[in-house]
Amino acid sequence: MYKLPKGTYDVLPEEIKKWQRLENFLHRIMSLYNYDEIRTPIFEESAVFHRNADDSSDVVNKETYDFIDRGKRSMTLRPEGTAGVIRSFIENKMYAQNNLTRLYYIGPQFRYENPQKGRFRQFSQFGFEAIGSQAPELDAEVISLTYNIITRLQIPNTKVKVNSLGDKTSRDNYREALVSYFKGFISRLCSDCLKRIEKNPLRLLDCKSCRKEDFFKDVPLINDYLSTEAKQRFQTVLANLDAIGIKYEVDNFLVRGLDYYAHTVFEIETEEALGSQNVLGGGGHYDRLVSDLKGPALEGIGVAFGMERLLLVMDHYKLINLPEQFVHFYLLPLGEDAKKKASELLNTLRMGGLICETDYNNRSFKANLNNADKLNSRFIGILGSDELNNNEITIKNQKTKTQEKISLNALYDYLKTAFTPQHSCNSSCRKEKE
Ligand code: HAM
Repeated sequence: MYKLPKGTYDVLPEEIKKWQRLENFLHRIMSLYNYDEIRTPIFEESAVFHRNADDSSDVVNKETYDFIDRGKRSMTLRPEGTAGVIRSFIENKMYAQNNLTRLYYIGPQFRYENPQKGRFRQFSQFGFEAIGSQAPELDAEVISLTYNIITRLQIPNTKVKVNSLGDKTSRDNYREALVSYFKGFISRLCSDCLKRIEKNPLRLLDCKSCRKEDFFKDVPLINDYLSTEAKQRFQTVLANLDAIGIKYEVDNFLVRGLDYYAHTVFEIETEEALGSQNVLGGGGHYDRLVSDLKGPALEGIGVAFGMERLLLVMDHYKLINLPEQFVHFYLLPLGEDAKKKASELLNTLRMGGLICETDYNNRSFKANLNNADKLNSRFIGILGSDELNNNEITIKNQKTKTQEKISLNALYDYLKTAFTPQHSCNSSCRKEKE
């Protein structure tokens, strides 16, 4: 038997309904903030993701699925949504149409990681990007939308963490301070951090194993290295979050796993339900990503959530109530002539908005009744030769357990009326009529 590739999963029919619910909610909330959906390819030229030789992030260095296509071009399955969206933003000159472009996306991403609960090799992100402004107020708006999504989904026990990585000068100064600090403990650093100290010392702050060591307790904090402007900018973001009423925690250890961030970075965590993969979503401001991809000097901010993680948490807290599934009408034709008529009837009923089923496997009468029950059919129609000769159909109401014969011409109206909620007048409605 063939099996799924490691780190992937099938979304089976019962599960897909949860996805659709969540996606519908996301489409609605994004329209409130005037974001448009964008769909970019799941693979791009490798250079879209492998932009800088000195990029030290694991996502780009260790986890991408890279391949050479038959035209000998180097391609990469997208490990995240932002770079492809920015490529499209530039290629389609969206910056010429709007002074702020708001885009969101939902779709698969690929990272060669060690799979575990909430961590897959193919996973899906919902993300959004606001491109074309450096206003700190926009950062606050994006964080508040992130928070509002989680609150509207009623996910409890979450925490928003924010930090500022400052501008380039702030980060250069901070980097220097980190290097000189960690050089004092070089023999105690893990092998990954020995590389990080050369390439991107900020990423040392993210190391799960070194962070547990006591030499970490006096590590310099970015806040002390922010330039006056960067500090002011961060204060404005926080003041706006306060004004909106968003609860957050400033975490100077938050550096994020991708290299394009500057100034505000943030994550939203859940306290339980996902084990160690407790980050539901994260993002931040980027100052040079658009120009690195050969676009104009525009800044932006965005965030992405793991769809699987959102669904896992929502399942954990039983937040998704799916409506009962049912079939309006199960049609059971008996005999060849009836089958022909059934095809015509089913087409008319379905086009009229009724969910219908029938039997194409010549099952016994009893097996068909069982099948109709299994499908939670509200009405069963039996079309035998007698009924057909009289232009009638026998209707069994599965709820009342009653049965009657009606004219075939009246079938659509009969069913439609049964499924149209009846208006029961209240006293104010009666008064209006009077
Ligand atoms: P990221 O933090 O790498 O950021 O990923 C965002 C979210 O995707 C994570 O918080 C997590 O929920 C989910 N995720 C990441 N990797 C996996 C995985 N292997 N399995 C399941 N879920 C996963 C970004 O991707 C940035 N593009 C976010 C962003 C948008 N920054 C600015 N704009």
